[in-house]
Parts: sequence; C-alpha cells; structure tokens
Amino acid sequence: MKSKIIGTGSYLPEQIRTNYDLEQMVDTTHDWIVARTGIEERRIAADDECTSSMATIAAQRALDMAGVAAEDVDLIVMGTITGDYPWPATACIVQANLGAKNAYAYDVSAACSGFLYGLSSANDFLMSGRGKRALVIGAETLSRSIDWTDRNTCVLFGDGAGAVLLEAQEGDSGILSCHLHSDGHYLELLYQPGFGAKNPASIEGFNQKLGFLKMQGNEVFKVAVRSLTEVSKEALAANNYTSADVAQFIPHQANLRILEATTKRLGLTKEQSFVNVNKYGNTSGATIPIAIDEAYHQGLLKEGDLILSAAFGGGFTWASTLIRW
Ligand code: COA
Repeated sequence: MKSKIIGTGSYLPEQIRTNYDLEQMVDTTHDWIVARTGIEERRIAADDECTSSMATIAAQRALDMAGVAAEDVDLIVMGTITGDYPWPATACIVQANLGAKNAYAYDVSAACSGFLYGLSSANDFLMSGRGKRALVIGAETLSRSIDWTDRNTCVLFGDGAGAVLLEAQEGDSGILSCHLHSDGHYLELLYQPGFGAKNPASIEGFNQKLGFLKMQGNEVFKVAVRSLTEVSKEALAANNYTSADVAQFIPHQANLRILEATTKRLGLTKEQSFVNVNKYGNTSGATIPIAIDEAYHQGLLKEGDLILSAAFGGGFTWASTLIRW
C-alpha cells in the first residue's frame, strides 16, 4: 500500500511583477537580480485574492484531474506561513470553500518546507489506515509579508498555490519515503519578528517593520545548499537508489544558484532538474506543488519514474521525499 498522487493543480495570480518593475521601486537592476537569483519575474495576488482563495482553486484543479468529489477527501493539510488569519487554520477555510465536509483540516508551519512536511503528515495518515484520500496544499501570499522598500528581500519572493491529491492504493507506485529535519538555532537568519506572542502588534513594532520577513541571505544560502544536498542523498540512500535513477529532481525553488549548486553536488544533470524559479520567484511552501503540477503537464513525470523532491526554509526546516510516479 502506498500514497499515490492521483491529481495535481496549481494557481498563479495574473499580475506579473518584472525585475524592471522592481527597478522603479528599489535600487536594483534586472541584471543583478538575474545574475544572483535567476528570477526574471514573479506573480502578485490581486487585492481581492488571498491564500485561501488561491489554494482553493489549486485544490479544486487537483480534484478535477483525479475526478474525485470534495466529499470523498478525508484530510486537508496545508503548508503556509501566510495564512488568511493568524488563526484558525487556512486549511479550514479551504475545506469550507471546497465543500469537503467529511475531511478534517489543519495547517503546517514549516516555511518553505511546509509542503513536504504536509506531504509526510498526509502519508502517515493514509498509511495508518485512517483515511483513503488526502489533499496536500502549499499556498502563500508572501507579497503581503515583504518590505517592498528592502531590496535584499523584495526581489526574491512571489505569490501562488499548488496542490496534490493523494490516494492510498495497492501497488509499487506512490510515496516511497519522507525525511524531515529542523534546527531552531537558526531562527533569526530567516523569520518574521512580529506580530505573534513574542512581539505583539504595536505602533512601535509597525514602525520598526517587525511584520515583514527578515533574512540574512548569504548565511541562508550556505546552509540551504548543504542541507538540500544531504537530505536528498538521505532519501536516495534510504531506498537504495543513486542520482542516476532519478527521472526528475523537483527542488524548492528559492534561487537558481542554490538549485544549480545542489544539482551539481548530487551529480544530477540539468535535464534531471526542474526549474521554474525564473517565472515565479520563491513562493515558499507553494513552489514544490506548483512545480510538480507544471512538470506533470509538460510530460516530464511518467508512470514508473522516480521523482526526488527536497526543500529548505525558515526554522530552519529541511525535508525530502522520493516518489515512484
Ligand atoms: N539589487 C542590487 N544589489 C543588491 C540587492 C539587489 N536587489 N540586494 C542586495 N544587494 C547588494 C547588497 O546590499 C550587497 O551590497 P554591499 O556589498 O554594498 O553591502 C551586495 O549586493 C552583495 O550582497 P550579498 O548578500 O552578499 O549578495 P549575495 O550574492 O549573497 O546575494 C541573495 C544575495 C539574497 C540573492 C542570496 O544571498 C540568496 O539568494 N540567499 C538565499 C536566500 C533564500 O533563498 N532564502 C529563502 C530560502 S528558503
């Protein structure tokens, strides 16, 4: 018995913000952004869109692809750090939007690793026999947590949502294993200082911009490459495979240089590694399900293929999975 992906879906807002648009907003250039990150443009949610609205569309598309009704879903897990409200879980809002009245729903807070943490949680749920189908969603509206006057961070991120529908099925295809790690010592290299219980909302905090994402980019970069490489090797070793067996590597899309360095360290070719960070930037928990959906529709994921995925994000958290498509 395995958790098999039987549906994928994604949603990207229509509004495109190019590097040339950013040149008008902060002291940066298109060439600098492309050279340091590989990002050319990103999507920005419209005023009437938010994390739940984008997640609902992505999830409905995954259900439609599988031909499964929302009432037949038993669990909805959503990786997000930009939920509609501090609480309750945005997954519950998506549940209501979909009409998935027989599911229970919760969010996972693991920043850019949120989707793979959610996938692991849903896989455990299905393999324990507690249900038959689970929706796993990654969705973010990071444009609302970014300081658009800070060139160090605002060029990197974007909005979007992706989802997969898992079904417990007999056979060899599906999730082979999931691997999760975290290390809270790195908290302040990548986090949002306000407005939780530690630094609650206040005029002073607002003036100090505590509600925006803070990051020490070059420190994050080094740990990200090391962790993504190690956790990817861990997934391969756990299943007695090597890089040569991988049909597609679908890593978290943070920065082209991180992707290229990781791909090289793993001994993977460019053809084995999926990239779309140039179009969407870093959509945190949403990058991997969006990439899975795009790779599938581009014909890159075929029955029996071995798919390796890995993520790294705030916490720090990092994770991987190996999937037989
Ligand atoms: N445009 C122009 N110059 C910029 C800039 C921008 N958008 N952002 C930063 N700079 C400047 C810096 O101010 C610095 O100038 P200084 O030398 O005068 O102080 C210079 O560029 C170099 O900064 P540095 O941070 O060393 O650059 P870098 O090569 O590390 O690239 C990042 C910066 C953010 C692109 C890179 O560190 C990175 O991608 N890190 C990982 C971030 C990430 O992916 N986080 C999420 C993980 S899930």
